[in-house]
This record gives sequence, structure tokens and C-alpha cells, in this order.
Amino acid sequence: DASALVLDGKAVAAEVTARIAAEVEHLVARGHRAPGLAVILVGEDPASQVYVGAKGRKAKELGFHSVQYTLPIDTGQDELLDLVAALNADAAIDGILVQMPLPKHLDPMAVIEAIDPAKDVDGFHPVNVGRLAIGERDRALISCTPAGCLTLIRRALPGGLAGLDALVIGRSNIVGKPMAQLLLQESCTVTIAHSRSHDLPALAARADILVAAVGRAEMVRGDWIKPGAVVIDVGMNRIPAPERGEGKTRLVGDVAYAEAAQRARAITPVPGGVGPMTIAMLMANTLTIACRSAG
Ligand code: GUN
Repeated sequence: DASALVLDGKAVAAEVTARIAAEVEHLVARGHRAPGLAVILVGEDPASQVYVGAKGRKAKELGFHSVQYTLPIDTGQDELLDLVAALNADAAIDGILVQMPLPKHLDPMAVIEAIDPAKDVDGFHPVNVGRLAIGERDRALISCTPAGCLTLIRRALPGGLAGLDALVIGRSNIVGKPMAQLLLQESCTVTIAHSRSHDLPALAARADILVAAVGRAEMVRGDWIKPGAVVIDVGMNRIPAPERGEGKTRLVGDVAYAEAAQRARAITPVPGGVGPMTIAMLMANTLTIACRSAG
């Protein structure tokens, strides 16, 4: 039996970021300032620290002006809103990212809505969500993880996506909903499934494209996969790995990879699939905003 094409997100992300670095050089050579990205982290969630660190490092590597704000966990709502307002007004900053999730006492929607939609690199602001829903793709800023997933799906389907059945498992504002909107705009027939959906295996059996974004380790089994499907695994689940020694863990996706790879046409690994693409799309969004202001 055939084994799937591995969608190497790390390699595709490296291609994308190499192109971005060249464009930054070009911008600066023409006398424009470098794209500016501000990343805000509230609290000390270890996973968020890893993501934020990676974003800041990549931005610097590409020649961006990169600033990071690490605020204590007891930061007040007004303090955070004041920082966002200052960054909105800062001409050196193109993109503002507030790492989610925020501590419980903070209101994420109030913070997102305080970001200037033109600087909303995450595409979380209702204005950008609305532009995507309306189909104003060129004016919208689009959430980075679904944008990265779409880039990988397109690579796996050079004949295009139109008319294909797509299943998105997960309905978060960060991944599931914008992913479904993007696939709809590609003329897929889109189903959004979630924790209350009946008979996921039956839905998966019809899916030419399956995107798993639920946060449950290896929940999607290999025998759910339609033979020849494109499988995109957004999951990042840390599970115990006693075979590696006491207290050790390993990272797995939402899809049982080894099984699914036996049936899929193409599949993303975890790690090295969607994760690197998210960061590449964040850099692409920041550059897009910088180019808008550079004219
Ligand atoms: N938390 C998980 N994914 C994301 C993301 O893409 N952006 C932000 N800001 N927070 C996240």
C-alpha cells in the first residue's frame, strides 16, 4: 500500500521566509524602515513562552524591527489596553500580536478589539474576520495558522480545491472558523465538526481534505481517513513518553499519524508541519502591512 506524501511545513516555511527576507532587504534598500512586529505575552505559560520566543527570533532573523513585552500575570486590563493603544500609535510598529490564551481575569475580545485592525497581524479583530467572511481576502489580515494550512493544502492539490469535500474538526476563532471560511472561498464543500458532532468517522469518510484542530492527542484514527485524502494536523499535544525515560514527554498531533499516512495522499507531520507555517504566515502578514504603509 502506498504511503502518503509528507507535507514538510518546515521546508515550505523556509521558502516563504527566505522570500520575505529578500523583500525586507529590498524595502530597506529603497529607504523604507524595516517591518515592525510587537509581541505581547502576559504571564508565564511555558507553551506560550516557546511560541512567543520563536516569533521574536524569526522576526529578527528576517531583518524586522522586533519588540517583545513580557507582562506579569497580574497585569490589569487597563494596563494592557494602554500598551495596545501606545503600539497602535507607534509608527515603527506594523503588527501587534497578543499571545493567547490570556490569564482568566483579562477579557480577550476587549483586547483584540482594541488593536487597530490595520495592525492586527493575527487577523483576530472582528473587522478582519468580517472581511474574510465577506470574501475581501485582499483587504483582510488572515489568521496565521489557517493561512499556513491552506498553503500546504494547495501544494498537495496542484489541480485546485474546487468542488472537494473538506472537513474541519474544531470551531475555534483562531483556527477552525477561519479555516472553514478559507476553504469555502476555495469552493470546497465545507463541513465544520466539533465536540458535539455525531459520527465523526462518517464525516471523515467523505472528506477529500481533513483539517484536525481539536487538541486531543491522536483522536483521528487512520481508518477514518478517505483513501487519497489530504490530512492537515494542527494539534500540538504533549503526552507522556515513558519509553524515552521517566518523566519524558513527546509531541503528537490530533491525528494518529502512522495509521493515517497509510491511507492519505498527503499528510503533515507533528512537529514540522503546520507549526513552522504559522510563524511564516505571521511574518508574511507583518510584511504585507509594512508594504501597505510604504506604498
Ligand atoms: N495562541 C495559539 N495560536 C495563536 C496565534 O496564532 N496567535 C496568538 N496571538 N495566540 C495564539
